[in-house]
Amino acid sequence: MTTSPPTWAPATPEQHADDPRARAFAQDHPRRPIPSDHEVEASPICLTPGTGLEELWRAIVPETRTRANDLHLPIATAYASRLCDAYPQADRELVLVATALHDTGWAHVDESRIVSEGFRGDWRKAAIRFEHEAEGCNVARRVLPELGYDEEFIDRVCEIIDGHDTRHVAYSLEDAIVRDSDRLWRFDRAGIAMSTSWFGMDPAVYVDRLQTEIVPELITDAAHQIARADLDRSRHLLRTETIR
Ligand SMILES: [Fe+2]
Ligand SMILES: [Fe+2]
Repeated sequence: MTTSPPTWAPATPEQHADDPRARAFAQDHPRRPIPSDHEVEASPICLTPGTGLEELWRAIVPETRTRANDLHLPIATAYASRLCDAYPQADRELVLVATALHDTGWAHVDESRIVSEGFRGDWRKAAIRFEHEAEGCNVARRVLPELGYDEEFIDRVCEIIDGHDTRHVAYSLEDAIVRDSDRLWRFDRAGIAMSTSWFGMDPAVYVDRLQTEIVPELITDAAHQIARADLDRSRHLLRTETIR
């Protein structure tokens, strides 16, 4: 599958910055990236796979079969678990469940439009992006009650899923950690392999763009540390200084 390289339109945080939740979060965390008081695990992500949530994973197996979600979701959730270790004040259960579910909506949109709309032009504003967020909330509302989660928890999960790509600012620390985990998977080898294939981009160009365009979007300092370590390893492994 070959596509033209996407325009990764820069975030325009002013769009949602006036929301009271965004304002409260910004006030509570004036220092960016948000510092962590804990040691950050920055070894290759395959060394600390995610654990638990078996029933949730089993419930969303069909949703993992679209758009490499069976790679993206468990890897992103493994990163989320690490970030929760770095920010123990965050609600770990909320973060892990929201990360596992955040892209399940891709399985319920017209697959032919994923590449034609979702990866081209200003992808943040593509209609299909909004649809995959809304469908992801539907999945959460379908599977979570059976697993014993209450309505308030499910509302919080949906608040994170809704807008995870199209809203440009975070509303809570948990929201920020899900966003960072969603981005961090791109720095792992599996994420680089999938993304270069989706975007029709050389690894050398791709890792350069991770550095210049995705790193600045990371909200937590722990994610910055992990991204730097992953990027360094990936550049060496893929010989991107030479193969370009
Ligand atoms: Fe998404
Ligand atoms: Fe994602």
